Order: sequence, then structure tokens, then C-alpha cells
Amino acid sequence: MKIALLGKGKTGSKVLELASGEVEVFDSKNLPTYEKLMRHDVIVSFLPGEAFHALIPVLLETKKPVVTGSTGFSWPSQFDKTLQEKKLSWIHATNFSLGVVVLKQLIERLHQVDHLFKDKTLSIHEVHHTKKLDAPSGTALSMKEWLDEPCDITSERTGDVVGLHTLTLETNGEILRLVHEAKNRTLFAEGALWAANYITKNKMEPGLFAFQKVVENHLSL
Ligand SMILES: NC(=O)c1ccc[n+]([C@@H]2O[C@H](COP(=O)([O-])OP(=O)(O)OC[C@H]3O[C@@H](n4cnc5c(N)ncnc54)[C@H](OP(=O)(O)O)[C@@H]3O)[C@@H](O)[C@H]2O)c1
Repeated sequence: MKIALLGKGKTGSKVLELASGEVEVFDSKNLPTYEKLMRHDVIVSFLPGEAFHALIPVLLETKKPVVTGSTGFSWPSQFDKTLQEKKLSWIHATNFSLGVVVLKQLIERLHQVDHLFKDKTLSIHEVHHTKKLDAPSGTALSMKEWLDEPCDITSERTGDVVGLHTLTLETNGEILRLVHEAKNRTLFAEGALWAANYITKNKMEPGLFAFQKVVENHLSL
């Protein structure tokens, strides 16, 4: 599997370390072009959101499968439909860890039983390193989407924190917390490489797929 790796920063460099096949790195010194991307089987992005967003037209033009972990941008409207019309499959995740696959399920369960809790407040707090460009984090936004309920998000930037997310449900009588803490960036690279392998080896339906859904379906979780 020949990988076009977009971004070799804190996270992309871990993909480069772990990848077993051929990898070409694209960054500000080697900008991705249609011709260069065509040499690869799959495109993996850990670019900042804005840089990834600007590349979407050329990525579509290549017709290659794309796996992206970029955050801090909005997908073009009806992008899932665009991919379906073009018969292309892309996998995206705001967080490629397996723990967050389970966290999604726990949050969805919390939503199902939410009528048990009277006068509750829900909040998400996320902590990341000081170099992170976007706030709130993509993971916090995904957690709010999975919860599907009003919920404030607060962000904190300190030291080299890889990613700490806490969802708190509080009533007059109790506090329930769901916490996910990433200890290093290797787990994101492992998840993205799993997705790259999956998307190149399996005949997927066309469309934009969340990593969590792909894992859930594959493992029948
Ligand atoms: N989904 C997940 O599991 C997950 C996990 C961690 C991070 N992320 C996300 O991944 C993204 C990258 O995070 P990071 O911390 O690894 O970033 P980073 O350390 O700042 O690295 C960014 C990389 O992108 C390159 N780059 C930036 N702008 C570019 C442009 N316009 N054209 C070409 N290359 C460009 C940089 O190259 P130069 O140095 O040459 O500019 C660098 O190699 C962020 O959106 C972050 O939120 C996702």
C-alpha cells in the first residue's frame, strides 16, 4: 500500500514511523499536486483543518480513497452526497482512538436513558497542548453530536496534553463523568493506518464514513 501522507507534524510523524509500506510525505516543502498524489493507493491527512479543506478539490480529482484526521474545518455541504455521486469512499475521524469508539457508544447510551435524570446539566471540557490550532477540539464537537442534547463545551490549552475529554452529567444528587485521555499520538496513527488498510482492501460503499461507524460495523460492536 503506497501512502500519500499529508502532514508530518506531531501526529503525521507517528504515521510515518508505524507505516510498513511506501510513504511519501507532503508538507509545505513538498506540496501535494494531482500528479504526485496519483502515484499512491491511499491519501492520509493529518494536516491542519484549513490546509486540508483547501485541498479537497484536488483530492476529489484524484479519485483516491482518503483517510483524514484533520479537524477545525467544516465539510462542504452535502459532501457525503458528492462522494456518493462520484463513487468515492472517504473515512474521517476527529479522533482515531479505539477508546473513542467505545466512548461514542457510552454517550449514545447516556442519551437513551437521559429521561432518568431530572434537572440535569451536561457539559464537555477538553484539554490540549498549547500548539493546537482549533477550539473546541473536533473530538469535543463529535461528543456533542453523539450526545444530541444541549451541552456547553469549554476548552483549556496547557503544556503538551495530547487530548483529555470529559463529559459531565450533573444533577442535584449526583455527578456522572465519562473521561477519555490519550496518552500519546501513536494510537491516532494506528487508527488511521487501520482505516487506510481497510479502505484499500475492502469494497466500501461510496460516501463519507466516520471511523467509529466503520469499526463498529467491522467488529459488530
Ligand atoms: N483525528 C485524530 O485522531 C487526530 C489526532 C491528533 C491530531 N489531529 C488533527 O490533525 C491535524 C494535525 O495535527 P498535528 O498536531 O499533527 O499538527 P502539526 O504538528 O502542526 O503538523 C501539521 C503538518 O501539516 C503541514 N502543513 C501545515 N499547513 C500546510 C499546508 N498549507 N500545506 C502543506 N502542508 C501543511 C505541516 O508542514 P510544515 O511544517 O512544512 O508547514 C506539518 O507537517 C489537526 O487538525 C489536529 O487536530 C487529529
